[in-house]
Amino acid sequence: MRINKYIASSGVASRRKADELIKAGKVKVNNIVLAEPGYEVMPGDRVTVLGHDITVSEKKIYIALNKPIGYVTTVSDEQGRPTVLDLLSDIEERIFPVGRLDYNTSGLLILTNDGDFSQKVSHPGKGVGKTYRAKVQGIISREKLAKLRRGVDIGGFVTSRAQAEIYKELPKQTVVDITIYEGKNRQVRKMFKAIGNPVIELERIAIGDVKLGRLATGSYRKLTAREIESLSK
Ligand code: URA
Repeated sequence: MRINKYIASSGVASRRKADELIKAGKVKVNNIVLAEPGYEVMPGDRVTVLGHDITVSEKKIYIALNKPIGYVTTVSDEQGRPTVLDLLSDIEERIFPVGRLDYNTSGLLILTNDGDFSQKVSHPGKGVGKTYRAKVQGIISREKLAKLRRGVDIGGFVTSRAQAEIYKELPKQTVVDITIYEGKNRQVRKMFKAIGNPVIELERIAIGDVKLGRLATGSYRKLTAREIESLSK
């Protein structure tokens, strides 16, 4: 962004006033008085106007990623495993994941640089449901389905109301779509373990109204304005 526009968007001066300040030698970039009025501000530049550092708030960005298995949902990993940010290296903004998916879970992960939005979406009990498609061992009876919906004890914690539907029945396995409104560590895996049907594969297919759809594994898209609004409500 051109320096006069940058100064104007920080709110300290109009664009014309910014030009005057530059001319008067009142603007520094990285501690050096700026001589070039057409300078393009680079990420990481420190811009000082009349002795005060200024900042421009980054454009807000909202990404839906189809996380593959084998990636950690953190910004860096002590064990050197690949992180979801490795899949988003062409995004300039400093984004972070909204909530987590396990290393062995795939599917929809939202990333943003908007802290308020992140809080709203990940806060338990705020109404944003997270839907998972779980392939589990064994048969899921009506009683078990009812239990999942009502709440199960996952070791000192009873899960709150959930939605659960059979998606597919296989000879020795069942695929269940389950929507939960809280996010205890490994919650879905623990819920199925508690009813005696351990999870074999787990994929998140929706967050609120945002669907994973046909997004290819490892690729991403921007959320639409409507999707952002529906999650912010
Ligand atoms: N529940 C789990 O067990 N794992 C996840 O990654 C997300 C929800």
